Amino acid sequence: MPYRRKFLTRAGYTTLSALLTMGFLQKDKQKQNENTDSIAATYPNINTPLRQIAAAKRKRYGAAVDGEFLFKEKDYADLIARECSIVTPNGELKWNATEPQPGKFTFESADAIANFCQENNLELHGHTLFWHMGKPDWLPYPPTLEMIERHVTGVMGHYRNSPVLKSWDIANEIIADSENDTDNPTYGLRRGVKPELIRDLFQIAADVDNTKKFYLNDYGIEGATWKSSRFLKMIEYLKNSGVKIDGAGIQAHLWFSTAYGFDATGFSSVLKRLNDMGVKPVITELDIIIDSPVPDTIPKLDQMVADGYKRFLDICFAAKVDTVTTWGITDRHTWIRHPDWMPKKTYGDNPNLWKFLRPLPFDENLKPKLARNAIAQAFRQAT
Ligand code: G3I
Repeated sequence: MPYRRKFLTRAGYTTLSALLTMGFLQKDKQKQNENTDSIAATYPNINTPLRQIAAAKRKRYGAAVDGEFLFKEKDYADLIARECSIVTPNGELKWNATEPQPGKFTFESADAIANFCQENNLELHGHTLFWHMGKPDWLPYPPTLEMIERHVTGVMGHYRNSPVLKSWDIANEIIADSENDTDNPTYGLRRGVKPELIRDLFQIAADVDNTKKFYLNDYGIEGATWKSSRFLKMIEYLKNSGVKIDGAGIQAHLWFSTAYGFDATGFSSVLKRLNDMGVKPVITELDIIIDSPVPDTIPKLDQMVADGYKRFLDICFAAKVDTVTTWGITDRHTWIRHPDWMPKKTYGDNPNLWKFLRPLPFDENLKPKLARNAIAQAFRQAT
């Protein structure tokens, strides 16, 4: 399976009538879709920054930021500073960026983002210490315990006294996509990864700096799936092993479609189980693709994306989720539009269809979309 597909979670809508029943949409859907103004009425524009709307509910809104653009595009940097309470570096804290050669650490690009955070009163989320991608060529997967110890000591040690970095994805995407991709049916770990190695990784991290929040972060867990049940078992294993684990990162790279349903019940049960275990669910990489049949106009597409955000976040907030990070903030800079990650199944190779990839709350010109207003509305309605 091409890598780009493996990242993405198939989620979707229940039927339109079910949504109408639940009061998510206005009554005359057809008429509404033909008129941008009436679409906008679904989620009234709330100009207050998302960080402020979230803070009113003791919650946080964040976005992944790309340093390459942050220091070149003032409008983009201003938008991040205005809307966000927390940011995640897109790649600057990954192993390939921080330890490109064995034992040789570089923090220039990550420190630049940390400084930006400090100047703008933002928190920084550390992503990530352990991943099968975003790694230098010399590094095996999984790395040896010695390599892990050197890396975690070097990177976490550098940020031990950081005034902005308060949390780490200690491990990222360790659960396989299906039982065919694992030699460990209980925990479903990627081939070669042993539960004891992950336990030791968390222990090493705590030995270096136990003042930060520690997350296990993954995708494909937004429902009752083979993968989410393994993810929960792995969290339980870490808890039972006595290592520090504070949060479960739910990436939420979501696909919505009129062609299949979103497992709201299953997702709620995942959130409940995490809360019951005392491990806080955190939304770490949210974005939304609309799967085929693709709507025929941009306003219709934007409405579906917005409805997806609202529906998903309502479930999150009902389970007391307090931090929501989108993977980017503007459709100008989204991994979804990068040719390497293009979701070909839906959009094919046709660049004319790329304009339908509008997964984030602000458009290419940094204008707020319905998705942004839907996120604001969800925060406002959170109890
Ligand atoms: O920095 C170079 C740039 O100079 C060059 O012009 C460009 C040419 O394509 O490449 C740039 O590097 C790219 C980098 O992203 C920055 O945009 C790499 O090729 C590309 O492989 C890298 O991809 C990132 C990927 O993680 C691997 O690190 C994506 O942007 C990033 O969105 C993605 O993020 C992951 C999360 O970490 C984990 N969960 C899934 C999520 C989405 O794929």
